[in-house]
Amino acid sequence: MRIGVYPGTFDPVTRGHIDIIERSAALFDRLIVGVSTQEGKVALFDREERIGFIRESVKAIDNIEVRPLDGLLVRFAEEIGARTIVRGLRGGTDFDYELTMNIMNRQMAPEVDTLFLMSSPRWMGVSSSLIREIARHGGDVRPYVIECVEGALTEKRDGTEKGRS
Ligand code: COA
Repeated sequence: MRIGVYPGTFDPVTRGHIDIIERSAALFDRLIVGVSTQEGKVALFDREERIGFIRESVKAIDNIEVRPLDGLLVRFAEEIGARTIVRGLRGGTDFDYELTMNIMNRQMAPEVDTLFLMSSPRWMGVSSSLIREIARHGGDVRPYVIECVEGALTEKRDGTEKGRS
């Protein structure tokens, strides 16, 4: 059984992530989406919410499982029997970041390889932080996230505005 792992913080999941998830699910018998907490980043959505959004996004695809990821990614990969980490690349900045992570991951676990998928051109400019920012200022994020994420971003914004008044 070919198992792949697609890790990230997904705060929140975007259509750019969903594009990578759908394309990689077609390459493996099982794809595990590992939802991490990121050191140094304060998440807008707690992990249960982030997991819920991804499950909703991929509910039509039955070889995908969404799980919390704690500790080292390579240990998580070993525990779930995954030999391949999937990462999306949007451009040069992603490449530099991925290169160093890949070097370290390969040194810690040479048997776990990383597969890079180029982001589809439509989603190249999308990132979770830009989506959060656009939503915070009342911009339309519907092209970039699924409906329940858009609703949750609006709720957060309304909650913050109420808190200020
Ligand atoms: N479409 C849209 N956005 C994308 C994207 C895509 N295809 N691919 C990446 N992004 C964006 C994310 O939205 C996020 O944006 P933001 O920074 O504006 O919020 C950014 O790119 C990076 O996010 P992500 O891909 O989720 O990675 P990450 O940096 O949050 O998480 C882990 C990286 C989880 C893989 C890494 O921290 C990890 O492995 N953690 C476990 C601990 C460990 O093993 N550490 C040692 C590593 S050597």
